[in-house]
Amino acid sequence: MRKKIIAANWKMNKDINETSEFISAFQKEMQGSDCPAEVVICPPFTALHVAAKNLQGSDFKLGAQNLHFEDNGAFTGEISARMLKSLEVVYVIVGHSERRQFFAETDEIVAKKVKKALISDLKVILCVGESLSERDGGVTEKVLERQVKAPLGGLTAQDMANLVIAYEPIWAIGTGRNATPQQAEEAHAFIRSVVAEMFDRDVAASLTIQYGGSVKPDNAAQLLSQPDVDGALVGGASLKADSFAKIVRSCPFGKTA
Ligand code: 13P
Repeated sequence: MRKKIIAANWKMNKDINETSEFISAFQKEMQGSDCPAEVVICPPFTALHVAAKNLQGSDFKLGAQNLHFEDNGAFTGEISARMLKSLEVVYVIVGHSERRQFFAETDEIVAKKVKKALISDLKVILCVGESLSERDGGVTEKVLERQVKAPLGGLTAQDMANLVIAYEPIWAIGTGRNATPQQAEEAHAFIRSVVAEMFDRDVAASLTIQYGGSVKPDNAAQLLSQPDVDGALVGGASLKADSFAKIVRSCPFGKTA
């Protein structure tokens, strides 16, 4: 059975007080819930410490939104894998489209970050996804194949056990226009086939593939009930404890997994 993961990507939102408030409200909302998905919360770097404290003793995991691929040195403003490990961070998001688009992260940089995270014992949420013009131009699969193959080349099957892929079509991020369950399923099945070709069927079959892009309480269950959709990476709707809890509680995994 594949691991199911629902993650909150807060992006550049929430200070330390808002983070504490969210976590206590979310924990209350989740009392008595039996969704078997792992829940990951990814605050900004500045709130990781307070989030780690607030999450102590809970089943919810802490994630970061980025890392640098060097261990230390003259890289003003950057954060290393070791720094994240010292904050009890378990997951790190790598290659989010906003990083690729606004901070010029190339496939090569994404590949270096994935490798550094894995050798540092961090679990990776690797984001991939096509733009609207790429979808309209019929090159979605080509783009996904490139974005998957670049960072996964050279990884072992063991590395793959610590890596999750998030399919996030750029046109669905923050737009309120989610991919249809069919579009998500098609892309996820394609990504799984690329991984099967690179590794083997077992590695592909056990890979968790999350969907991200305008996931909301009212569309989550339908998206998550697709056979190759193993979780969600939620932006805007993860900023409120009640709406994120609704998404987590609506997961249909108990019935299918
Ligand atoms: P939204 O849920 O706000 O569309 O953001 C998705 C996303 O980018 C998560 O990483």
